[in-house]
Amino acid sequence: MRARLFPSLLAADFANLGDAIQEAEAGGADGFHLDVMDGQFVPNFNFGPRTVEACRRVTALPLEAHLMIVQPERFVSDFVQAGANRVIVHAEATPHLHRAVGLTRELGAQAGVSVNPGTPLEVLRPVLGDLDLVLVMSVNPGLGGQRFIPGSVERVRTVRRWLDEVSSGAELEVDGGITPATATGVLAAGASVLVAGSAVFGGEVARNLEVLRAVMAGGQPEEAS
Ligand code: DX5
Ligand code: ZN
Repeated sequence: MRARLFPSLLAADFANLGDAIQEAEAGGADGFHLDVMDGQFVPNFNFGPRTVEACRRVTALPLEAHLMIVQPERFVSDFVQAGANRVIVHAEATPHLHRAVGLTRELGAQAGVSVNPGTPLEVLRPVLGDLDLVLVMSVNPGLGGQRFIPGSVERVRTVRRWLDEVSSGAELEVDGGITPATATGVLAAGASVLVAGSAVFGGEVARNLEVLRAVMAGGQPEEAS
């Protein structure tokens, strides 16, 4: 199956979020990635349930909330109620990972778990069979526009192998520093969903999406950036 592209709204113009969503949707986005930050798990603040709710009103595409917040289980239901189809929590952010995943699914949303670049992938093992998505961070979370960490490709390959071993249909997502140049490696390693912020909203959105989608369809990057 072809890989899917979820633009990260962190890189969009917040004064015109609706326009950004419509433009990306017209360009072939498969869904939207909303970064939620609490100033504690990561040194930055961003988006809350009301932002998800506002985005929900302007698109029917899937919305995923990437919760970079401590004890994310406290807020899972708020994000589901706001219209998030998928809620992604960080393994490092809670001692109750299994509970957070179970709660997300009980509420009728898809459950994802994310791991930072410095986190041993083994934390995923106990919950792997209960997940709809694994998110391998390819930068340290908290900021857009960072450089892709090359070691992430090997981590994606490992998670792909583990998912295949248990015949899991879970998505394997990569987030951080994704460009036409870095997309190729993670796709070859088995990623099924790519998140891209700056590479979509930096510059001309339609053109950026065209180039990214061509790479994802197996073409060559025209202007590797
Ligand atoms: C980083 C966020 C990413 C971010 C990616 O903390 O999780 O979703 O928006 O931005 P780019 O694609 O610019 O690296
Ligand atoms: Zn993210």
